[in-house]
Amino acid sequence: MPPRKIIIDTDPGQDDAAAIMLALASPELEVIGITAVAGNVPLELTARNARIVAEICGRTDIRIFAGADAPLERKLVTAEHVHGKTGLDGVTLFEPVRPLETGHAVDFIIEMLRREPENSVTLCPLGPLTNIAMALERAPDIAARIEQIVLMGGGYFEGGNITPAAEFNIYVDPEAAALVFGCGTPITMMPLDVTHKVLTTRARVERLRANGNRASVEMANMLEFYERFDEEKYGTDGGPLHDPTVIAWLLDPEMFTGRECNVEIETKSDLTLGATVVDWWRVTERTPNAFVAGGVDAERFFDLFIDRVGRL
Ligand code: BDR
Ligand code: CA
Repeated sequence: MPPRKIIIDTDPGQDDAAAIMLALASPELEVIGITAVAGNVPLELTARNARIVAEICGRTDIRIFAGADAPLERKLVTAEHVHGKTGLDGVTLFEPVRPLETGHAVDFIIEMLRREPENSVTLCPLGPLTNIAMALERAPDIAARIEQIVLMGGGYFEGGNITPAAEFNIYVDPEAAALVFGCGTPITMMPLDVTHKVLTTRARVERLRANGNRASVEMANMLEFYERFDEEKYGTDGGPLHDPTVIAWLLDPEMFTGRECNVEIETKSDLTLGATVVDWWRVTERTPNAFVAGGVDAERFFDLFIDRVGRL
């Protein structure tokens, strides 16, 4: 089987970096481009961080584009309190060799979806959905050409992590999320209900570090920084490793459980802005529009993650 073509849309972020590493380490996937969006930190930093991560993986061949620097209709909310001032605190930062591509991320996404055969490109959004929504708005024809959208965002039984009701990626740009969930393309959603089960315990981070290669050591350093905030917040050994669940699902969907549900996005209420209203119990007649993951075998996830990053 030829590798599955993916575009990673991202706001690195240490856990975004982990997702990029897992994808670049996996022969089942061909990363045809990385598009940066403003989220955890402003666009200038997410675009630079994506390039740094690709280069840590030894991949100066990957094209990286900058996209939206602000949500569709709102002011940007960032998360330096989780990821540090640079967005990638914990890693040794450097100026990447390969420059950012000159085009806009949204144009790149549209062009790839139009150029590649229908249903051959999967989108993997790991941050606010602004770039994806802009592409769908500008070129509605691409919705039918996307193989599927596998995204990290939302939460239902777990509630939110930026407000009691909302998860960060959806909260930052709820209008974009509403557009994406309404676009008709098959969606797989990795919510907090899954990612809060994937914890970077000390033992797992040490196993990763013991691989000894550059990517594993830098990732272990990043996770040690990232853990500090989340351990305090959740009272756990290690923090949730959100974004690589998207890539893990593409590689080994059997490690997850979930169901087809209707998901709607709250865009009006001040109190619950950005909430993902998941009809898990099918109490409405609303048509399912996403496969919503709920469970994960965390040991199997880390076996895959540690093994693959060790190969970089
Ligand atoms: C999501 O928000 C970001 O801080 C992480 O990178 C992840 O994509 C988790 O809520
Ligand atoms: Ca992210």
